[in-house]
Amino acid sequence: MKAVQFSAYGGPEVLQVADIDEPHAGPGQVRIAVRAAGVNPSDGMKLRAGCWRGRPIALPSGIGVEGAGVVDEVGEGSTDVSLGDAVFGYGINTAAQYAVLTHWARKPDGLPFAQAGGFPVVVETATRILAQIGVKAGETLLVNGAAGGVGSAVIQFARYRGIIVIGTASAPKHEYLRGLGAVPTTYGPGLVERIGHIAPAGVNAALDLAGPGILPTLLALVGDPSRVLSIVDATAPLHGAQGSFAPQNHPERVLSEAARLYTEGVFRMPLDKTFPLEEAADAYKRSAAGHATGKLVITLG
Ligand SMILES: NC(=O)c1ccc[n+]([C@@H]2O[C@H](COP(=O)([O-])OP(=O)(O)OC[C@H]3O[C@@H](n4cnc5c(N)ncnc54)[C@H](OP(=O)(O)O)[C@@H]3O)[C@@H](O)[C@H]2O)c1
Repeated sequence: MKAVQFSAYGGPEVLQVADIDEPHAGPGQVRIAVRAAGVNPSDGMKLRAGCWRGRPIALPSGIGVEGAGVVDEVGEGSTDVSLGDAVFGYGINTAAQYAVLTHWARKPDGLPFAQAGGFPVVVETATRILAQIGVKAGETLLVNGAAGGVGSAVIQFARYRGIIVIGTASAPKHEYLRGLGAVPTTYGPGLVERIGHIAPAGVNAALDLAGPGILPTLLALVGDPSRVLSIVDATAPLHGAQGSFAPQNHPERVLSEAARLYTEGVFRMPLDKTFPLEEAADAYKRSAAGHATGKLVITLG
């Protein structure tokens, strides 16, 4: 099969499409014929660092942790799924013609594969951090870095729960944020004053999805450090703030919930751009630049 591979650590330029053996579904897994694989900034970090969470990545390696497609192998003990089902979920080296999924949910008929392939990481992360920060209906949440994949999911889930959202992005993306239901403002110097005008009564909680160095400002705005959370700044606990850096063990329920919300017209994942498998390096270049609006996805078939 054709798969995106790297044989040396480095930037996106080390990614190539190669012919390799197909993977097979082990116990508790399924294999899919991949129709879409989401691109995540963390993939690029692994590629550059050659390790992830202290474990080295053996070469050659594939890339991609999420995808959507049609089940063509069901591993021993995998229940509630059949050959031919359309599913999306977490997997191993999903930027390929075939990939094994470890956690999945059924894809509704109306949900395009390209969106579904980009759901898992952003849906799981947004759900996890909204629960961890404990923000409630009627409260005001400030989201730093609101226009990327995670931010786009956070805004929609928070609005669905009746939370008022202020999101930061560069000025050309303010209409995009408004479209998702957030009040936009720019990041950078003067943020405290701008937020003071938008929310004179203050903000109740803040999520940092972008850094860098924004935590002191968010702490000053919120007051209570326990109501500030970062997914990008490992120093958050040193400031008394919360950090959240690892996915939950069983994301299936939140994936199913996102599929339901899509069907009800409450949630969607705007796609910044899709790329064919052969142009995966370009997808990762765009991701590394850090200015995607919504999600980047590699599509097949
Ligand atoms: N800890 C976890 O569990 C976890 C899980 C998922 C993701 N993450 C991390 O969270 C971050 C966001 O992920 P993502 O998938 O949403 O990334 P993404 O889609 O690549 O985010 C791109 C967005 O970031 C915005 N941005 C760039 N610099 C910014 C700045 N200085 N201030 C505010 N916004 C800025 C850009 O807006 P402009 O173009 O307007 O600048 C762009 O829309 C990544 O670093 C990712 O690795 C962590």
